[in-house]
Amino acid sequence: MANRCVIGAQWGDEGKGKIVDVLSEEADLVARYSGGANAGHTVKIGTETFALHLIPTGVLHPHVTCLIGNGMVLDLPQLFKEIDNLTARNISVENRLKISAAAHVVMPYHKVLERANEKRRGGGAIGTTMRGIGPAYADKVSRQGIRTACLLDPTQLRHRVEINVADINTRTTGALDQEGLTTDRIVEDTLGFAERLRPMLVDASLYLHQAWANGKTILLEGAQGVLLDVDCGTYPFATSSNTTVGGAFTGLGISPRVVDEYIGVSKAYATRVGNGPFPTEAKDEIGDRLREAGGEFGTTTGRPRRCGWLDLVALKFAVRVNGLDCLALTKLDVLDDFAEIPVGTAYEFGSEKIEHMPPDMGNLGFCQPVYTTLPGWVDTPTKGLTAYNDLPSAAKDYIKFIEDFTGAKVGMISTGAARDEMIIRT
Ligand code: GDP
Ligand code: IMO
Ligand code: MG
Repeated sequence: MANRCVIGAQWGDEGKGKIVDVLSEEADLVARYSGGANAGHTVKIGTETFALHLIPTGVLHPHVTCLIGNGMVLDLPQLFKEIDNLTARNISVENRLKISAAAHVVMPYHKVLERANEKRRGGGAIGTTMRGIGPAYADKVSRQGIRTACLLDPTQLRHRVEINVADINTRTTGALDQEGLTTDRIVEDTLGFAERLRPMLVDASLYLHQAWANGKTILLEGAQGVLLDVDCGTYPFATSSNTTVGGAFTGLGISPRVVDEYIGVSKAYATRVGNGPFPTEAKDEIGDRLREAGGEFGTTTGRPRRCGWLDLVALKFAVRVNGLDCLALTKLDVLDDFAEIPVGTAYEFGSEKIEHMPPDMGNLGFCQPVYTTLPGWVDTPTKGLTAYNDLPSAAKDYIKFIEDFTGAKVGMISTGAARDEMIIRT
């Protein structure tokens, strides 16, 4: 069976959780490699809904082993809350959740620092999820981060926390002091997780390599989306990790040779949470209709998502940057009531027509979309369909247009939130 890597091909929330859940059926091991509790991956099984933030979505299949890679940043209270919530719903992670000893820890001071940073940015705020992600990755890159293995060495932990607390208090004129976040308290609270964490810690790179060598089927679960990648995305309105496929190899310590197939997940339209450019955003009642029909409210923060039409220039960029073999198109059913469906096929930047994503993403905010309008399929809903041939011809044409424009095959089509509302093309 193929080893696959699933990534978000837009600005996150494309429905990666649902696609990973479906593909987990065939996987032995599901691994996440980037981001942290800024992610919110939703899976609907029957009447039950699960929202996963740190634990790979594969956990919902009892036969799957889950791995958290070194590229992730872990909020420990959130991790154990998630484990306890799953256990309360009869999903045990015992012996099947492995955590890289080199993953970084989101410390309580990262969230305080993030609040200060966002406040300081004023009108230029990124609109982050406030999960401490940016400051945790900044500490990692500055080589002053705390890795999970550090919890097993209290002396080292105290030494590092002490330095970081002093540094942040200086930079924020005592923000940690004001919240009573002393070194003693932070060290004590963090060490409170050490014994639960200890049995889960592994050398993730070696673990994955051995699974690969033993012929296990591996599925890599991306978080966020291509356009939020700190290098390739709409910087500075991005997250702080590499969400593109490149992040999978550094974030797990594996070779690109492990993966046989790259799958990009895209909605049949587009959404974005937080600030930053979004050329095809519909700021009128169309955006409201899409939000309502698609239930577009954040899984992690509950914020209403900005909604608009599919941006094929951006999707083609996602295909190129990641070498996507195929696309999984989600939420096709949300378009069931639209008589006309525009898709962005170019941008206008002043008098210039642009066919490719501009390399300076700052310019994207000044680009106007050029649309091609395709007919909808209002009389023949796609909701819940499971066979490609049952799709109305206008929906097939819509899919074909996406394939022709991006050069990637649409291999999976999701027609509803539930696990079985899915078309798989062979
Ligand atoms: P992720 O972060 O990429 O995993 O996506 P989220 O879980 O944050 O957001 C996707 C939302 O769309 C979730 O509420 C899913 O249950 C829902 N969803 C996924 N696929 C479909 C679909 O094909 N149709 C509809 N109507 N909802 C879907
Ligand atoms: P999943 O995995 C959608 C967005 C935030 C903000 C920017 C930076 O569920 O698709 P951060 O907290 O990461 O520093 O915020 O990135 N963002 C997401 N948007 N889905 C996500 O994850 C996101 N993770 C971060 O809204 O604009
Ligand atoms: Mg999400």
